[in-house]
Amino acid sequence: MRIAMIGTGYVGLVSGACFSELGHSVACVDVDEDKVAALTARHMPIYEPGLDAMVAENSDRGRLSFTTDLASAVSGAEAVFIAVGTPSRAEDGDADLSHVYAAAGEVAAALDGATLVVTKSTVPVGTGGEIARIIAKARPDADFDIASNPEFLREGSAIKDFMHPDRVVIGAASERARQIMRDIYKPLEALGTPLFFTTLETAELIKYAANAFLATKITFINEIADLCEAVGANVEDVATGIGLDNRIGPRFLAAGPGFGGSCFPKDTLALLAMGRHHGVEQNIVEAVVTVNDRRKRAMAGRVVAACGGSVGGMTIAILGLTFKPDTDDMRDSPAIDIVGGLQAAGAVVRAFDPEGMEEAGKCLNDVVYCGDAYEAMDGADALVIVTEWDQFRGLDLDRVKSLLREPVFVDFRNVYAPDDMAKAGFRYHCIGRD
Ligand code: UGA
Repeated sequence: MRIAMIGTGYVGLVSGACFSELGHSVACVDVDEDKVAALTARHMPIYEPGLDAMVAENSDRGRLSFTTDLASAVSGAEAVFIAVGTPSRAEDGDADLSHVYAAAGEVAAALDGATLVVTKSTVPVGTGGEIARIIAKARPDADFDIASNPEFLREGSAIKDFMHPDRVVIGAASERARQIMRDIYKPLEALGTPLFFTTLETAELIKYAANAFLATKITFINEIADLCEAVGANVEDVATGIGLDNRIGPRFLAAGPGFGGSCFPKDTLALLAMGRHHGVEQNIVEAVVTVNDRRKRAMAGRVVAACGGSVGGMTIAILGLTFKPDTDDMRDSPAIDIVGGLQAAGAVVRAFDPEGMEEAGKCLNDVVYCGDAYEAMDGADALVIVTEWDQFRGLDLDRVKSLLREPVFVDFRNVYAPDDMAKAGFRYHCIGRD
């Protein structure tokens, strides 16, 4: 199958590379000439494990290419995926669809022969229908179908998630569209992945409902963690205890400093906007957004409390800045509120993140960036784990203690065991456990 992928952001780039890995011939299109040149030279714009090797291999095989020439990529394709960004509009949290509709207009102009146009971007219900109207109006002669194929990959495990998904959701209005999508995903279906076919509107809503549900699950366990702290219970055991019930399931029940990233914050806001547009209350998701924002802002206060009530003039070491491990993405990372809150309280922040420091430099001020975890904590008054990178799981605790001025250890990801930390002589603070 010949595929054009419009947009080389996270979803577009990973999906394009993975489709080529499945044997399709993929042209990835982006307006950013520098990015296209870099990708052609095999330089990845993001850190994602395994992506560089997959891009290099499929480029070598001639199945994957990068271009700024949308028209030629689209005219040679049987399926065109729109995977451009849908950021939140600052004024109302609604998804900004200007890039999607601009892409649809350009795709319309370039259509040549029967083509399936598929949205992979996360788009509010009705967007697929609007794209169909845009194309039909611009090109009454065009022979095209529309489908929605939301993506559920996670940053940091994007390739595994794409290649071994729990399901592939496909919204399509015509049998011809369904058949092309079936052909595209045949290699995954052969490995046992269920293809779930539905209408355009339902597929669009599934994406928001999935992200909002996962965000709710996290926020729920975070509030239960607060209750655990008040009553002397252990949130990890509570999560295990409820997660063993198949109706609940064990995943996405790790309590922490609040969710961040490029998806949950944006998609929960967009779901609320959709509810407002249609006059349908979304009280649960509204509470999730409020509780999560408040939580991220409250985390700096926990560090201050761990330091005895004030951090004025103190140096605080932060390990991990990205919103989760195995990515360099800083979007809506809890670290932004934590670092800002500590600085506002008068602390100097030293930080180390294995991949995120360049991105962090764009959204944090006055942070002293360090070459590794030990350099960050050297002479600090407290150590805070914000992101659970694997390399922070096996710290040499004797060395940590000798480098810190005070043995104050705040672990927002529950990486260490409270008993071990007490034995090692730390004043250890974590989430929802004694
Ligand atoms: C999320 C979804 O998990 C993907 O299925 C979806 O495709 C993606 O958004 C998207 O819409 O593009 P992602 O944002 O990459 O993926 O990362 P997650 O692993 O879901 O983590 C999101 C946030 O939740 C992180 O800040 C993470 O630390 C936090 N989290 C996650 C917890 O605090 N506890 C958990 O148990 C799980």
